[in-house]
Amino acid sequence: MELLPVVVTALWAMLPAYVPNNAAVLAGGGTPIDGGRSMGGRRLLGDGKTWRGTAAGTLAGTALALVLNAVRVPLGDAVGVPLPRFPLAAAVALAFGAMLGDIAASFLKRRTGRERGAPFPGLDQLDFVVGALVLVALVTPRWFARTFPLRALLVVLVATPLLHVVTNAIAYVLGVKDEPW
Ligand code: CTP
Ligand code: MG
Repeated sequence: MELLPVVVTALWAMLPAYVPNNAAVLAGGGTPIDGGRSMGGRRLLGDGKTWRGTAAGTLAGTALALVLNAVRVPLGDAVGVPLPRFPLAAAVALAFGAMLGDIAASFLKRRTGRERGAPFPGLDQLDFVVGALVLVALVTPRWFARTFPLRALLVVLVATPLLHVVTNAIAYVLGVKDEPW
């Protein structure tokens, strides 16, 4: 099997998991999810994980999936690769799973003594990928198995950190993000 169709479909299928973080950055603020609570002298999650950011990210990823569903046939014809449709449950799972992965990473960062915004190379780039893939596998296992064969998972795990680094650098340069990671 050729690599290009695998890369195209894998990245397409991950798009609803890519936008939540960026939407959360733009819409974040307000009450933190942990309500200011601490554990062992450190914040449970920190002020960087808010209800508003999480809701906005989940909605943005889900909405994107619906838009992708509307354009997938003409777009797939144009690039010569059939593009998968997102069932609503899969769309929500990808978007919310991305947010959950990011939240879990903040929990780990606080437990390891990292302040809000401190980098954790590796975790920062893959937390939302793992969260999205795990949740979508649990919620829509048949869609997950069909859409993400092993080779697609490998593509996602390699390509996503690269894309994440590039988009965060752009957000930093544009001034919408405080750190370039
Ligand atoms: N954000 C949010 N809610 C989320 C995720 C992100 O409100 N669930 C917003 C916050 O304003 C956050 C910004 O997006 O500051 C950037 O997200 P991220 O880099 O994940 O958070 P950090 O502030 O770097 O905090 P942490 O160290 O916990 O990752
Ligand atoms: Mg951060």
